[in-house]
Amino acid sequence: MRLRRVLAIIGVVVLLLCTVCAGAGVWLWNAQVISTADQVDFTRPLAVPPLAPSRMEGGRRVFDLKAQAGEHDFGRGATPTWGFNGGYLGPTLRAARGEQVAVNVTNALDQTTTVHWHGMHLPAEADGGPHQLVAAGKTWSPTWKVDQPAATLWYHPHLHGETSEHVYRGLAGLFLVDDPATSVDALPHEYGVDDIPLIVQDKKFDGDGELDDSSEFMSGVGVLGDTIAVNGTVGPYLDVTTERVRLRLLNGSNARSYEFGFTDGRRFALVGTDGGLLASAYDTDRITLSPGERAEIVVTVRAGERAVLRSYPPDLGAGPFERFVGGADTFDVLQLRAAGTLAPRPAVPQRLVETARLDRKDAAQERRFTMSGHAINGKQMDMTRIDFAPERGSVEIWKLVNRDGQPHNFHVHDVQFQVLTQDGAAPPPHLSGWKDTIYLPGDVTFEVIMRFSDFADADTPYMFHCHVLYHEDAGMMGQFVVVPPGGKPGVVDHSSHLAHAGHH
Ligand code: C2O
Ligand code: CU
Ligand code: CU
Repeated sequence: MRLRRVLAIIGVVVLLLCTVCAGAGVWLWNAQVISTADQVDFTRPLAVPPLAPSRMEGGRRVFDLKAQAGEHDFGRGATPTWGFNGGYLGPTLRAARGEQVAVNVTNALDQTTTVHWHGMHLPAEADGGPHQLVAAGKTWSPTWKVDQPAATLWYHPHLHGETSEHVYRGLAGLFLVDDPATSVDALPHEYGVDDIPLIVQDKKFDGDGELDDSSEFMSGVGVLGDTIAVNGTVGPYLDVTTERVRLRLLNGSNARSYEFGFTDGRRFALVGTDGGLLASAYDTDRITLSPGERAEIVVTVRAGERAVLRSYPPDLGAGPFERFVGGADTFDVLQLRAAGTLAPRPAVPQRLVETARLDRKDAAQERRFTMSGHAINGKQMDMTRIDFAPERGSVEIWKLVNRDGQPHNFHVHDVQFQVLTQDGAAPPPHLSGWKDTIYLPGDVTFEVIMRFSDFADADTPYMFHCHVLYHEDAGMMGQFVVVPPGGKPGVVDHSSHLAHAGHH
């Protein structure tokens, strides 16, 4: 009898514990979903990053960028942040194809950083990756000739192991490339008027209103914020004065992907991706961007109306992890407030720019990149290892696949690529143009093709990596050098770079 009573009590206790655990499980499951739909008061005018001043010096267009500590108002008092030439984010650099540019990057922080020109075709020593250190108090002055189609590029630190923190604190800005031959006059193009950059970032704050970059429970992707800032503005509205407005979207977030659309389901024209305009405008109602990706869209508004840009739950192809990595979240991002009378703007032309397609037959090499467990092809980043060495001028096909189902994307420096296939089929329209970053849903193979033109440097590597910054910092990155035809990769001596850090 006594034994039965004891067993019964144990049974009840176990049952109770299970209920508590299940309850906690359900709570945790539900707690992973964030929605700000219809809950954002759009009370602050959208900040538009200023165009960086420049001057001509010895035939070069020269910019000055200073990385500095400061503070920023995210709507909860003064939050300590970092920025370029200001408290948060940086000015928009703008240069034309064919121009020689130079940027004096001064590091006024109390620690080393770097500045990388994401999407830019340029010599490796100007790339601003983890080997081009800028020590505290020093100035680094890379120079290169801008030579690529008109595009929305960006810049951000790339210090190995610290990229996530430096970007999260606010070091990021846009670099717009102009080129009459690859742009379309009929598209809105007046910066800050009908051509508006939108740097979209998610932020999280601790009890003191300071930026919190701690990782989420079970996420494995690092920080996922519950507050959206656009160009640093929380709850932004944009006064629209023209019938059509071009939005240059940059996902400048550490880990979060967005699926942008309008709450009234209106359609818009996708006109450009990472590396330039598309061959033809793509009429759609959604565009998904993973960290580092850009999209240019043209939206039509009616006089007097308000329209809300929202991020819907993106399909991350992450299976059971989906909701732990932001795949169930909804955010209201930006309100467009159309004026009572709107200046006319031409319709978006169907044909945009002629772009030659790279040909599979021209590929000298095929390589495979398997993304899994903070490693690429089973290898983690090593500052002194060169993984491979394409020859200058050669064309290569890279096969990209995500094998662990965590959210990964793939970014490569120096080049823009074209997508040949997605699981053997022709790519969808939003992957039909120039890309430098591509999202990789689990177990879908992408073939991309690129040419390594112009620059060779056997000793200075370019990076390829996952642009989920926590993964990149954790080692999901590799290095390649471009060598002259017949050349051999050199030796990356990181210590010498350290010794010369910031030398100028
Ligand atoms: Cu946007 Cu290697 O980086
Ligand atoms: Cu890059
Ligand atoms: Cu990743």
